[in-house]
Amino acid sequence: MSRLVIISNRLPITINRSAGELHYHPSAGGLATGLNSLDASYNKLWIGWPGVDIADEWEKEGIRNDLAKRSLAPVFLTEREIDLYYEGFSNKTIWPHFHYFTEYTAYNDDMWDAYQEVNFKFFQETEKHLREDDMVWVHDYQLMLLPALIRAKFPNISIGFFLHIPFPSYEVFRILPWRKQILDGLLGSDQIGFHTFGYMRHFLSAAYRITGHEHKFGRLQIDEREVNVDVFPMGINYDKYAHPDVDAASDQSSGEIRRLHASRKIVLSVDRLDYTKGIPHRVRAFGRFIRNNPEYIGKVNLIMIVVPSRANVDQYQSLKAEVDVLVSQVNSEYGTFDWMPIHYYYRSLNFAALTTLYKEADIALITPLRDGMNLVAKEYIAAKEDSKEGVLILSEMAGAVYELNDGAITVNPQSHQDIEEALLEALEMSPEEQRSRMELMQEKLKQYDVKHWAATFIKEQHKLKDKNKMAN
Ligand code: UDP
Ligand code: G6P
Repeated sequence: MSRLVIISNRLPITINRSAGELHYHPSAGGLATGLNSLDASYNKLWIGWPGVDIADEWEKEGIRNDLAKRSLAPVFLTEREIDLYYEGFSNKTIWPHFHYFTEYTAYNDDMWDAYQEVNFKFFQETEKHLREDDMVWVHDYQLMLLPALIRAKFPNISIGFFLHIPFPSYEVFRILPWRKQILDGLLGSDQIGFHTFGYMRHFLSAAYRITGHEHKFGRLQIDEREVNVDVFPMGINYDKYAHPDVDAASDQSSGEIRRLHASRKIVLSVDRLDYTKGIPHRVRAFGRFIRNNPEYIGKVNLIMIVVPSRANVDQYQSLKAEVDVLVSQVNSEYGTFDWMPIHYYYRSLNFAALTTLYKEADIALITPLRDGMNLVAKEYIAAKEDSKEGVLILSEMAGAVYELNDGAITVNPQSHQDIEEALLEALEMSPEEQRSRMELMQEKLKQYDVKHWAATFIKEQHKLKDKNKMAN
């Protein structure tokens, strides 16, 4: 079997420096957690950024050696590259634009130059490792120019690309001055995958209108190559969340969560601090729910886990300030001497605490304004494997809704009324109905797990590799 070379901006391990020491942590976010749970049956090498600015060559060498033991190869970014490529073009231009936050999109040529330079830097690292029979799999919006760069040097190598975020409609995409270069970069791939049918349709329409390539059943002919564009909704490692291998009995926060749940209903939300996740809307809607339904005072808690993310980007800083204020407004307005409506934690959790929360929560309230997929929704469902009880309230704007809409209560995340009604429905739902909805969702997630996702993507790419080889 050929080796799988995964390339993503972020490695599954992020390094932090504190008090002069380097610390290695698992990375947060759907791409890293999902891909990292692929089993050892793949012979893989993963190339990416370890998330820290290192200037010292000795230190870099030490990290390179440490990571090599885990089949990871680091691409080190300079402070300037982090500023202009990662925080800049990736997270001030593409991220907001592709999530329809066009008012946040930065149009800045220095950022675009840095994006091109860093994509080339990733190419240079990749080139050092690549063998002709490798299967390359590039991930996400930070590296959209990389497929064409690899193709130019390795015309026969098999390249796949997966976008973990939405692809916006043509009308939005075409606003970007660099739209053609981005498409040309992506079209260096043999296969391009999206989470939903809608994102795929938007991509095909943009490719046709901007580059003139017309598709036939999702296939584009680029010179001698056939490029397959398709939908591959990403799953989770179901068993990992259904039967977590942790000692929750001795984990302190797990014990505290269970004690809290003994006296109250728990509504849970877990997201990175990101304006796409609809956190202020959710807090306001929860406030409205308490105001309109005082019989629930003292009986329900919203536990909000907000994981720090991209803290140097302005919009993330102002969002943090906004959420802090909103949470304290709701708590000070409705809290009593023995009850705080919202428990708000701005930090990441260890796996034991996260899975205990999933297991204990009566309701998961997942209300992004726009989200490529949302794996948290899927993890919550898997964690209910034994109890079967619990209700998922899910935004219509999350990619996951297409797989989960027969079991979840779906809401428009902009509508406080929708969220209030969904909370009431969830709190009053009979255990029988909870079970039957849960089972529907669990069946799907068990079958279409992350292994199935990767295996299907890779199988299709293999087929194409043979076809494109024959054409050459
Ligand atoms: N997660 C994490 N640390 C935490 C809380 C959550 O790593 O403290 C994980 C969570 O389990 C999930 C991922 O972060 O796998 C979030 O993925 P999702 O697709 O929901 O959203 P994204 O962050 O990719 O936008
Ligand atoms: C989303 C993106 C990923 C990214 C993750 C965490 O899931 O699709 O590409 O890695 O968020 O964001 P960060 O900027 O910390 O890598």
